[in-house]
Amino acid sequence: MSALPQVAARHDDIALVLLGTGVVGSALLRLLGTPSALGVRLVGVANSTRQHADAQGFAAEASTRLLGDVSPRRDDDALLAALDASGAARRVIVDATASADTACRHAAWLAAGYDVVTANKAASAGTATTWSALRNVNLRGVATYGDAATVGAGLPVLSTLRRLHGCGDRLIALEGVFSGSLSWLFNHYDGSRPFSALLREARAWGYCEPDPRADLGGLDAARKLVILARAAGHAIELDDVAVENLVPGPLVDVDVDAFLARIEELDAPLEARRADAAARGFVLRHIGSLDSDGRASIGLVEVSAQHPAARLDGTDNLFALTTQRYRARPLVIQGPGAGPEVTAQALLGDVLALRGLRSAV
Ligand SMILES: NC(=O)c1ccc[n+]([C@@H]2O[C@H](COP(=O)([O-])OP(=O)(O)OC[C@H]3O[C@@H](n4cnc5c(N)ncnc54)[C@H](OP(=O)(O)O)[C@@H]3O)[C@@H](O)[C@H]2O)c1
Repeated sequence: MSALPQVAARHDDIALVLLGTGVVGSALLRLLGTPSALGVRLVGVANSTRQHADAQGFAAEASTRLLGDVSPRRDDDALLAALDASGAARRVIVDATASADTACRHAAWLAAGYDVVTANKAASAGTATTWSALRNVNLRGVATYGDAATVGAGLPVLSTLRRLHGCGDRLIALEGVFSGSLSWLFNHYDGSRPFSALLREARAWGYCEPDPRADLGGLDAARKLVILARAAGHAIELDDVAVENLVPGPLVDVDVDAFLARIEELDAPLEARRADAAARGFVLRHIGSLDSDGRASIGLVEVSAQHPAARLDGTDNLFALTTQRYRARPLVIQGPGAGPEVTAQALLGDVLALRGLRSAV
């Protein structure tokens, strides 16, 4: 991790390394090529095996070509060296992977003065040890942690919760739909098409996690609930969340390809539940909730047609916050909670928010 600048200092700008060029990373690369990202210099890009680094910067559109077979193999040090050599006022690592290994390094990167902006939930929803390390280094203010993309794909829910908590308001209850993919799936699941057909379509739209069992098993929504609970002042862990797994037992441990080849096995049990609920005038929605004692749960709930969650559209997320000061009626945040464009925009928003902050180095 060299600190020797090889190019003239340009204190008006932000040097950026992007980890992950999948659905979200590619959308961010498209945004980095627009005038909104003026002053953001892309100095490194990486997928799981290859990378390209250049402290002088390169065009975002060239990334796919630069990550070809002859590009260097993955090596964090070369990417960090490009950030160090950039001379930029802020050195930012954007994590658009779902990698636990990458998330493990967030705290160390912050401690070393690199700002971290992430769509990857594995650190802030991680174990108490991982989260404490992150929080302690964040509190020291060495660098900034941007996590808006981790919940609601950038809907202003984490910032709102932190602001309320910071003002001494106390969360009494949080209820909502935290998974964009499960929202889309159950908003469309009316019995006219098998659930598996909807799941294939949701994957094609880029709404699902790389392994859809992270959505269906409730893990992705549970991680969001942990991040939300922690933002509201509850030191809960993933194991504290009561999670309903929608994946049938025989499909839980098979590899991703085998799971995708057998997703029709989801259809019968879910159709039985849907038809049963419909016969009594209810619909199924994937709902998460947190109470004032930090008790958290996620799973399929039957709701009436009048329930706010029954009236969602597309990949909408819903966050209803009942607090001491929003007691008579909850503060409600609702909107698209998945999709590459909005998630990438949340990442860029956190990057651009670094402008005007004092130098992290
Ligand atoms: N899709 C959404 O709507 C959405 C919304 C909010 C948050 N997110 C989060 O955003 C993250 C990315 O999601 P995605 O849908 O873009 O996933 P994806 O399409 O599977 O892309 C993941 C990318 O990460 C790369 N990668 C894995 N390990 C890496 C490493 N150690 N170093 C560098 N790159 C690495 C992969 O490389 P290879 O190409 O070589 O495999 C791939 O390019 C996830 O954490 C997800 O939870 C997604």
